[in-house]
Amino acid sequence: MRLEWTSDLETGIESIDDDHKLIIEFHNRILHYHRSEADILMLERALSDFNFLFSLHFLKEENFMIEIGYPDFESHAKEHETMIKLLNAYSEAETDKNELCQKIAFLVLQWLTSHLEGADRRLAAFAKHPLPGVERQNQGAKAYF
Ligand SMILES: [Fe+2]
Repeated sequence: MRLEWTSDLETGIESIDDDHKLIIEFHNRILHYHRSEADILMLERALSDFNFLFSLHFLKEENFMIEIGYPDFESHAKEHETMIKLLNAYSEAETDKNELCQKIAFLVLQWLTSHLEGADRRLAAFAKHPLPGVERQNQGAKAYF
């Protein structure tokens, strides 16, 4: 199933939302390989780019969490780690192109409905309204977002 970006997916943090839009685009690109003439090597190459995109996005979010002194850093970062592990595990274990496309598509859909709707929303809410007394640890580090 192709995914479409809708406003109810917005966190309100532009850079995070831009990355999430890109992830949805990549997801749809991966789906394009399903039942297409593309071979498994082409899909694996696309998945490698997808994995890189996720890793970069997660790193940006984690740096941002550190910058703002986010109290739920550990559990949020653990969800990122689990996603990368699953992406790698599926890519390594599945040799059937169409099966792999379906598994990755389902994984991303799950990620959207659980991580984005849960952990990312909580992070965005905290970033907009940090707890009293919590100050950004590095006021100069604005480059992440
Ligand atoms: Fe996240």
